[in-house]
Amino acid sequence: LHSKLFCVQARVPTNIAFLKYWGKSDAAHQWPANDSISMTLDLGTVTKASPAEHTEILDAQGNSLPRHFVLKPLKHIEHLQKLLSFSEPLQFRTHNEFPASCGIASSASGLGALTLAAIAAWTRSSNFDELASKGFGLERLADLARLGSGSACRSFWGGMVHWQRSEHAASQMVAPIANSTSWALRDAIVILDANEKSISSSDGHRAAWTSPQFSDRLARLPQRTSAILEAIAVRDIDRLGPLLEVECLEMHNIAATSEPPIHYISDATRAFLSYWDQHGPRNAYYTIDAGPNVHIIYEEAQKDSVARVLAGYRYLDTKVGHGPELSVVL
Ligand code: DP6
Repeated sequence: LHSKLFCVQARVPTNIAFLKYWGKSDAAHQWPANDSISMTLDLGTVTKASPAEHTEILDAQGNSLPRHFVLKPLKHIEHLQKLLSFSEPLQFRTHNEFPASCGIASSASGLGALTLAAIAAWTRSSNFDELASKGFGLERLADLARLGSGSACRSFWGGMVHWQRSEHAASQMVAPIANSTSWALRDAIVILDANEKSISSSDGHRAAWTSPQFSDRLARLPQRTSAILEAIAVRDIDRLGPLLEVECLEMHNIAATSEPPIHYISDATRAFLSYWDQHGPRNAYYTIDAGPNVHIIYEEAQKDSVARVLAGYRYLDTKVGHGPELSVVL
C-alpha cells in the first residue's frame, strides 16, 4: 500500500473497575499501587490513523478538538515516538461511542485506541497477527497504552481483566480472567451530573498517598482482590456485588480524606444511593468511578427490574464487551 494512503482504524473498548486502580507506586513508569480488576464494556473509542505532514488529533469529521482534550494524547504520541523510534507524523480522527456527558472516563478507551492506531500505522500493520509478527503482541500494546493512561491497559481484552501490580517491571502483568461470553453482566450508567469532572484521576492518584487511610487500604486489598477473583471465577453476583460497593466507597473515602480533599460524589449521587438502597432490586450492585455517576452492575436476567427502578433517571445501559478491533480503511 502506498504510504500516504494507508489508514488504519482501531476500536478499543472502555472498562469499569470492580477493584479500583487508585494511587501509583511509580508515576513516571505508571506502576499502580495495587492490583485492579475491571469489566470491559460494550462501548469504546474508534480512532483512525494515517501518515500526515504533522501530528494532529481531530474529531471524526476532521475538525480540531479543544486543546485540553488533546494535550495528554499528543504527549503520549510523542512519548511513543521516542520510545519506539518512530518519527513519522500521523493524523488521527477519533470519536467515542458514548456521549461525553455520560461521565465515562474516556481515557482508557481513548488512549488505548490512540496507541493501537498509532502503532498499526507506523508499522503498516492491518491486523493483530501482523502486529504480533512485528513484536507488538497484545501484552506489549497494553503495556504501551498503560503509559498513556493506566486503566487503558485493561481495555486490551474483553470480559474481565486483572492488572497485577509489582515493584518489578518484568513481573507487571495484565491478563484476562473471564471472556465476554462467559458471564452476561450488564452496566447501567446512571447519569446524575453531566458536567466534566473537575479533578483528573491523575491528580487523584497523586493525592491518594496523603490520605491517612491509604496504607490501611493497601494492606486490606490483597484479601479483597482474592475475594473478587473468586466471585468472578464462580460467576456469583451476590458474592461480587457487596465487594464492589465496599471497594468503591473506600476509594471515594481515600479521595475525600486526601490533602486537599477530593469529592467526586455529589449530592445527586448521595440522593440516588439512598433511593437505590430503598428501591434497588436484589442482585444489582453499584460502583462509582472518579465522578458523580453511578454504575449499576447486574446480570442480564435482572434487566427489567433494573429498568423499572431507573425509569425516572437518565441512564446508559451497556453490557460486558469484547476486546479491541483493528482494520484497514480503504
Ligand atoms: C477511578 O487510568 O484515568 O477510573 O493512569 O493517571 O491516566 P491515569 O489514571 P486513570 O485512572 C482510573 C481511575 C479509576 C479507577 C480504575 O479505572 O481502576
